[in-house]
Amino acid sequence: MAAAHISRPVRIAPSLLAADFARLGEEVRAVEAAGADWLHLDIMDGHFVPNISFGPGLVKALRPHARIPFDVHLMIAPADPYLAAFAEAGADLISLHPEAGPHLHRSLQTIRGLGKKAGVVLNPATPVSAVENVLDLCDLVLVMSVNPGFGGQSFIRSQLGKIAALRAMITATGRDIALQVDGGVTPETAPDCIAAGADVLVAGTAVFGRPDYAAAIRAVRGVG
Ligand code: DX5
Ligand code: ZN
Repeated sequence: MAAAHISRPVRIAPSLLAADFARLGEEVRAVEAAGADWLHLDIMDGHFVPNISFGPGLVKALRPHARIPFDVHLMIAPADPYLAAFAEAGADLISLHPEAGPHLHRSLQTIRGLGKKAGVVLNPATPVSAVENVLDLCDLVLVMSVNPGFGGQSFIRSQLGKIAALRAMITATGRDIALQVDGGVTPETAPDCIAAGADVLVAGTAVFGRPDYAAAIRAVRGVG
């Protein structure tokens, strides 16, 4: 695949879901100091996905603890009633799933209207065509390489082809749209994601589950 020959900077977004929830402020400071580029915050409602995590109140409480962008991944339905709350809480990017509501284009317009970057998240079974007609409103496309809801799952390799297809679509737009992968990203699976064209890697267990966050981030980045 042609994208494999283009080298672009790879950003690492540790997922707070795998952090110690009793020490979250400290965890955020530690992962930023360890070289994290973004902080990935997984919002789960126990309805769209079979797990509950945290809401905008926690995002707001953590915001003063780091300067890196807060990348909020909404796994909630409906999402529209909560977009303003996450924007006000300090999210820099807000991503949502097309299945979360009937009007994806409007949801992305709302996020942009709140002054935030907007992203679309594709579940393993969701085709690339779900984002094709709204790419002009996207700052980020996220490919789920596990079924959303839990950390620590195994990487679904069939998603690599989707990453490559999206890289080609993004290149064709000529716009700077981040291509993110989330789920089962480890030092072993990251190189395949990067070769397929991903440039932002979410890693929960592979960072917060390791004793040395800086070494873990370097390992996922492929420079460790
Ligand atoms: C899953 C979440 C992921 C999760 C990744 O629904 O969207 O961000 O935290 O965890 P790992 O890296 O452990 O697979
Ligand atoms: Zn996520």
